[in-house]
Amino acid sequence: MRLLIDTAKSSRTVLLVVGTVCARTTGTITLQRNCARNMSTHIKDIPVIRDVRSMRDFSKRLHRASQSIGLVPTMGALHAGHLSLVRQALAENDHVVVSIYVNPTQFGVNEDLNSYPETWDSDIASLRTLNDSIEAQRVPCASRISAIFAPTTKAMYPLQPPTSEIDGPGSFVTLSPLGSILEGASRPVFFRGVATVCMKLFNIVAPDNVYFGQKDVQQTLVIKQMVRDFHLDTTVRILPTSRDADGLAMSSRNVYLGVRRRAIAPILYKALSAAAECVASGHRARVDIMEAAREVLLAEQLRQAKLDGEHRVLFDVDYLSVADRESMNELDQIEASKGAILSGAIKVHALEQVGPDELTGAGGDKIAVRLLDNVLVPAS
Ligand SMILES: *[C@@H]1O[C@H](CO)[C@@H](O)[C@H](O)[C@H]1NC(C)=O
Repeated sequence: MRLLIDTAKSSRTVLLVVGTVCARTTGTITLQRNCARNMSTHIKDIPVIRDVRSMRDFSKRLHRASQSIGLVPTMGALHAGHLSLVRQALAENDHVVVSIYVNPTQFGVNEDLNSYPETWDSDIASLRTLNDSIEAQRVPCASRISAIFAPTTKAMYPLQPPTSEIDGPGSFVTLSPLGSILEGASRPVFFRGVATVCMKLFNIVAPDNVYFGQKDVQQTLVIKQMVRDFHLDTTVRILPTSRDADGLAMSSRNVYLGVRRRAIAPILYKALSAAAECVASGHRARVDIMEAAREVLLAEQLRQAKLDGEHRVLFDVDYLSVADRESMNELDQIEASKGAILSGAIKVHALEQVGPDELTGAGGDKIAVRLLDNVLVPAS
């Protein structure tokens, strides 16, 4: 179920744009820069930086040359959604750094960090393919993925070992109450871990812009609040959720869904879309909007319950939310001028019985998968 990637090294001709001067607008200042940088040598090896000092030296050098840096933080297991963030970052910055780091402190003690998909080779291959496609387009002065920052946990957490305990030792960034509602209620250390690792990454990479997907809406608000409240000198860019054709939000965890579970996975998006339609048709009250979403989920649960263990997919609704677009506080009533976030999470259970010919996902469909999604109600 991995991304299909062409790992063959194509023999490329190097585009030498010696001496061309490009104009690029960074904020309000237009920078002139010489395009010949980095282009005289064809670097076959991907620049992977593993320690803090080297990453910092690298970004200092770029900043001294007045070049902008976009950072796309990831935990690897890259999919098309990540790649669209990278593409946007390439369009908006002179240099792009993609970080790949599976952050232990955002996994709770009872959550299985070890089951998180690690796909280093295919991640590198997909970044290389994306980078090469830019080279193939021969756009003068196009930005490149200049480095992959893949630090060790020893480098990221000087106080060893990093803790996943709520009251454990360590230095953490907590955001209250935003970090403890919704996703934070199910996963108490999650946003503390996310905010902490992003604070570290932002301090190390010193990016001008950072890129996140709308899919993890609460995460985007946590990051925005952290950047604002700690006066971090970076701009948070949030891009729309990438979806498969049937609406399922792309997620690294989707690799765990075999054919049977994958088939019902878009139900959450369908439910949230029904809620959004309810709003679009003039309803403003939480009860009505919730009802529209619940109806869709309940109908599917009933349908599945009638099947036997070899055919059904059981799932629970973790939460549904109609919330404020900044605080994520629950709303009883949507104000048209403010809009809202309609979000939810479902837990798709492990399959009870797997048929001999059944196409299973990673882990044989024995791992329960939490799916998240959200739909924005724009302010009108
Ligand atoms: C992207 O291409 C540039 C220019 O060819 C190269 O310097 C850089 O190492 C490449 N990065 C990746 C991740 O392949």
